[in-house]
Amino acid sequence: MQTDLRGRDLIGDLDFSKEEVETVMDVAFDLKRKRALGEPHAYLRDKVLAMLFFFSSTRTRGSFEAGMAQLGGHGAFIESKSTQISHGDTPKEIGEIFGRYFDGIAIRHVDWGIGNGYLNAVAQASRVPVLNMQCDIYHPFQILADLMTIIEKKGRDLRRKKMVVSWAYAASYQKPMSVPHSLILQMPRFGLDVVLAHPPEFRLMPEIMDQAREQARKFGAGFEVTDDMEAAFRDADIIYAKSWGAMVHTPDPDEGAKIIKKYAHWITDERKMALAKPDAIYMHPLPADRNIEVTDGVMDGPNSVVYDEAENRMHAQKAVMALTMR
Ligand code: CP
Repeated sequence: MQTDLRGRDLIGDLDFSKEEVETVMDVAFDLKRKRALGEPHAYLRDKVLAMLFFFSSTRTRGSFEAGMAQLGGHGAFIESKSTQISHGDTPKEIGEIFGRYFDGIAIRHVDWGIGNGYLNAVAQASRVPVLNMQCDIYHPFQILADLMTIIEKKGRDLRRKKMVVSWAYAASYQKPMSVPHSLILQMPRFGLDVVLAHPPEFRLMPEIMDQAREQARKFGAGFEVTDDMEAAFRDADIIYAKSWGAMVHTPDPDEGAKIIKKYAHWITDERKMALAKPDAIYMHPLPADRNIEVTDGVMDGPNSVVYDEAENRMHAQKAVMALTMR
């Protein structure tokens, strides 16, 4: 167990070592138990987290804000449009100034090619931890909640379990690539054999793919890529199928939207789920395009763990905040 995480940023999934992630899991399960028993756990009394949003959110905002209150502190919701950022406040100003008001700065900025650079620039100027509530490259808190959920459902020894990270069709908008990136970086460290499935135009960032292969090699896990969704689902223990945009293939959003339309058959339905193991779990970070990306039957069915997954956002985030913002 690594106990000295005080003052640390969490921007990319590999910012924390495997042992540090194990510490986060340990604390998260303890905090979940404490909340279930109504035991007070005000580890961050009088501390305040700035929660700066450049993009909409249901779960991230709700879980960080509730989590800070349960830890005895406060989460201050700040919508970027309501600030002076568009009138000249740079990431340096945000880091320097919010770093003096707040005990942590959490940011969601998913604009492709911009978000991650923004978070790192704020972190460079900040004297307090910067926490990534999702950028264009990573969604580390989602993946900590996902790992917690997988441990709850499949046990602590995840070696040789097959996890499918699949692209899925969605018509609403070109979703960020941060969830698949973060999944392929973090999950092989815990022994899961990851199969990444996507149509050719939806490939992930080459540098993230290289890092994922390196993690899989280092931790003795499998990592394969396919463009066949059904072959990927076969005998899987975990199905994690969600949409993302074609940003690596083309920077043109109109072209990306046209490409998405070719793959409407990449839906997670009961027939495809039947290819996986009978006790396979279905995961999705939400929001999902119901009956486009995934059928109601799968989402609301016996294999779905999506609401436990959403709940675990709060426990995992409380663990990181308690460890970094003390
Ligand atoms: N999964 C997730 O990040 O949800 P929100 O976009 O609602 O925060």
